[in-house]
Amino acid sequence: MSGMHPTDTPPVLVTGATGRIGRHVVDRLLDAGVPVRALTHRSTAAVTLPAKVDVFTGDLTVPESLEPALKGAGAVFLVWTAPPRTAAAVVERMAAHVRRVVFLSSPHRTPHPFFQQPNPMAELHADIERLIAATAMERTIIRPGMLASNALAWWAPAIRAGEVVRWPYGAAETAPVDDRDVAAVAALTLHEKGHAGGDYVLTGPQSLTQAAQVGVIADALGHRIPFEEMTPDEFRSLSKGTAPSSVVDMLLDAWNAAVGRPAYVTTTAADVLGTAPRTFRQWVSDHATGFRKGA
Ligand SMILES: NC(=O)c1ccc[n+]([C@@H]2O[C@H](COP(=O)([O-])OP(=O)(O)OC[C@H]3O[C@@H](n4cnc5c(N)ncnc54)[C@H](OP(=O)(O)O)[C@@H]3O)[C@@H](O)[C@H]2O)c1
Repeated sequence: MSGMHPTDTPPVLVTGATGRIGRHVVDRLLDAGVPVRALTHRSTAAVTLPAKVDVFTGDLTVPESLEPALKGAGAVFLVWTAPPRTAAAVVERMAAHVRRVVFLSSPHRTPHPFFQQPNPMAELHADIERLIAATAMERTIIRPGMLASNALAWWAPAIRAGEVVRWPYGAAETAPVDDRDVAAVAALTLHEKGHAGGDYVLTGPQSLTQAAQVGVIADALGHRIPFEEMTPDEFRSLSKGTAPSSVVDMLLDAWNAAVGRPAYVTTTAADVLGTAPRTFRQWVSDHATGFRKGA
């Protein structure tokens, strides 16, 4: 639905624009007729972005490099995967230019054990939220639970190779949320009025054990995928070199706390979007090729 916004609408700067959520936010904003600027810190990444987007090279660890992208922008979608050191300087610089910020955080305030395990990521998100709250910018905080797309990173290599999926805490329940629903909510709050002060915890519609999630993938592929429990220590040692130990510990603690209790499920995505959130089955069926041999 392009043309919903007048041509003098100030552009929205999307950080993390080449990432899982940001890339969909770019598309949803373009659909709504909103001019989009995309930030990337790798000059080669721009090729993945639509031609209509104004691509800016800038690095969140070098706050002054963001100046050209921020100048004249109306709002920012903030995704922080960089080290924390420059967060305060970046937020200050953003506040000097834009009226509105939508921050991709996590549900670290939600009183469910899965979200209540202390970890550095939650601390960083809380710090950035405090920095944003201390500015005059209108703000909306988006807090997805487990993203459905994690399944591709975690289980697709074994499934593509025809191997057993070996994973810790198969009985841990999560409610995977479709990245596209998270992005649709974020995009709406960036261009639609009425979301200032919004704090949105987004989950998928259904609590599923991790083993059941692998079962959903098996159904979509039409063949059996054997699942085998792995010990947390084995997971730690196999993850060495591929993920920071703080992230590995964060996941293990969260899964451990999620065994034997249903995952936290919200209706927020449906409430904001006015449509039912996509199920994990839907996400899998739309991404089945990524799990097939030769993908
Ligand atoms: N995975 C989950 O289940 C989950 C759940 C809740 C919340 N989250 C949060 O979601 C966020 C990650 O979102 P995502 O998965 O969409 O990201 P992602 O796919 O990991 O992509 C990260 C993005 O950040 C950009 N980036 C990295 N370093 C940068 C730098 N120094 N300067 C500028 N840009 C930089 C990258 O762009 P270029 O390389 O092009 O510069 C890329 O677009 C994290 O804060 C995470 O904690 C994740």
